[in-house]
Amino acid sequence: MARQLARGSRLVIATHNPGKLAEIADLLAPHGVSAISAGELGLPEPEETAPDFTGNARLKALAAAAASGLPALADDSGFCVAALGGAPGVFSARWAGPTKDFAEAMRRVHHDAAEAGDARAWFACALCLAWPDAHTETFFGRVDGTWVWPPRGERGFGYDPMFLPAGGALTYGETAPDEKHATSHRARAFKQLLASCFA
Ligand code: IMP
Repeated sequence: MARQLARGSRLVIATHNPGKLAEIADLLAPHGVSAISAGELGLPEPEETAPDFTGNARLKALAAAAASGLPALADDSGFCVAALGGAPGVFSARWAGPTKDFAEAMRRVHHDAAEAGDARAWFACALCLAWPDAHTETFFGRVDGTWVWPPRGERGFGYDPMFLPAGGALTYGETAPDEKHATSHRARAFKQLLASCFA
């Protein structure tokens, strides 16, 4: 059985992104777990050097747990295109460059994948919970669909406007935030974590 998180636990969220911290804190609050961010504790951000989402989530969670002496949770996510062998994948943020230009990153996906005749794409999210003794539990969520061109919709962030989930008519850029948050790759990974660690 997976290791459990006790009610009343303090959990470090290994992110320096206040938006992610707020979203994760909301998901944990009903389970009596309070969230502190790695940023608030002044923990360094390790380089994401692993070849896959799970590896990057593990290295971030393990670094935060070791540095804080508390259990820590990290996530890593990205957009994957079948015709590009799963790229941009773990490089999703890096494809947007230092100015975080996702219009440019989406153009690159279109440019590189347009000829392939295969529009399959997916969003993936790995979550890792690590303890100071280096025990880890990992969870994974994925939403399959296709990439579309041109991008549609102003909602969401990153690659949302060019992703059409399977069976849907709206891109993530056109989808209401509540609906996306209830069904996304991140939501799927979180459902597994909650079922496993608060059983
Ligand atoms: P990280 O998990 O913070 O490293 O972010 C990975 C990158 O993947 C983000 O900067 C986005 O480009 C992309 N990404 C992850 N999840 C989503 C999503 O739900 N919508 C759009 N882009 C996403």
